[in-house]
Amino acid sequence: MSTEGETSLDKLIITGQRRLTGHVEVSGAKNSAVALIPATLLAEGQSVIENVPRIRDVEIYMDILQGMGVKTWWAGEKTLAVDPSGLNGTKAPYDLCKKMRASYYLMGVLLGRFGRGEVAFPGGCDIGSRPIDQHVKGFQQLGATIAIQRGIVTLSAPNGLAGSCIYLDVVSVGATINIMLAAVLTPGTTVIENAAKEPHVVDLANFLNAMGANVKGAGTDVIKIHGVNKLHGTTYSVIPDQIEAGTLMIAAAATQGDVVLENVIPKHLDPITAKLREMGAEIDEDGDQIRIRVEGPLRAVNIKTLPYPGFPTDVQQPMTSLLSTARGTSLVTESIWEGRFKFVDELKRMGANIKVEGRTAIIEGVPSLSGAPVRATDLRAGAALVVAGLMAEGETEVSGVEHIDRGYETLEAKLRHLGAEIRREQEN
Ligand code: EPU
Repeated sequence: MSTEGETSLDKLIITGQRRLTGHVEVSGAKNSAVALIPATLLAEGQSVIENVPRIRDVEIYMDILQGMGVKTWWAGEKTLAVDPSGLNGTKAPYDLCKKMRASYYLMGVLLGRFGRGEVAFPGGCDIGSRPIDQHVKGFQQLGATIAIQRGIVTLSAPNGLAGSCIYLDVVSVGATINIMLAAVLTPGTTVIENAAKEPHVVDLANFLNAMGANVKGAGTDVIKIHGVNKLHGTTYSVIPDQIEAGTLMIAAAATQGDVVLENVIPKHLDPITAKLREMGAEIDEDGDQIRIRVEGPLRAVNIKTLPYPGFPTDVQQPMTSLLSTARGTSLVTESIWEGRFKFVDELKRMGANIKVEGRTAIIEGVPSLSGAPVRATDLRAGAALVVAGLMAEGETEVSGVEHIDRGYETLEAKLRHLGAEIRREQEN
């Protein structure tokens, strides 16, 4: 991890074709942590969140909250404490918000708690157009007025907020979470229809309920929220990271490995497990562990990314790397983020035979990849290039590691522990 507060300019040097074996612990879910952390501001008292990944996005969120007068500190190795009693306004600082997508959860939080807020239009990975129209529509249906000017979203509720029925035109994780955050303290009943069902939506609902909220139906496509007057601080543990687990399973498969992942919820991995089994991997589930073994060549498969419980877009890129050496032709269709095939050009530099037509990649499996210098342009592309490096003959240099550090906790240390030859160096 880079020095706190700084962006690292590191590269990862990987000598490929080392078989991964052994046990590895999966960290807490990034996309859950970045929703739970702002949600703590809905209460007046202190909250303690356990199993928080020590990643850059979490550090940025701590900085954003500290800039708003909120005290945040590590109360244990992976335990984050948040004391919102010093919250000194309803403006979220632009220079930090622009660095991460999930800063937009402060819109729902500030609107719900104070009836107003000013939050910079969010940044994040460059993976395609990232509209917020469904968030805005949801807030408006609760009675808010929204103005977007010079990159700042200003929310107000001159006549107060009231529960309402909101139908999402697209299944959006962010809009579902933001509306939940705004609605828990809003009088009346809010119903979100066509809601996202991702594990971290359920995790947030459980966290809010532990704070005294009344949220029902999370994990289905209709979520009902009965507004309460007040929330209190709580202690809660973040679910394991579905995407990190999927990435590590793919890394194991990519090296003909035999790896046991610990601290996982196998159910959340079903779409990934199903595809890896179809490719020829052996996967066994045992409580909160999952073992993946691969012997011999893997078969090509077709994949389409979809909202949960479909195949996650966040695992598409590592999977595309893996499929680049599977026997036969695979078709991968990306239906969530149109920009998520940009990294394919880097894979091609390593010898992959992939043609992208619109939202589909046609992958002709090649016998092996060869190491090359490559650059990550977003978080999951970074993980995908690491997977490619693990598979390739010779040495691969992955630059743009700051993207990986945003969302994976000590990825190279975990891989090294499993037997990978991987080290970090400063970019010149
Ligand atoms: N969309 C709209 N209007 C909206 C919101 C979304 O049209 O107002 C569209 C998007 O353009 C996209 C689709 O709906 O095509 C789904 O977007 P969603 O809102 O679900 O994505 P998000 O909330 O911005 C979260 C994750 C992403 C993950 C997606 C999909 C967080 C912080 N981010 O993004 O994670 O890819 O859900 O599962 O939870 C990552 O971790 O690498 C990452 C990008």
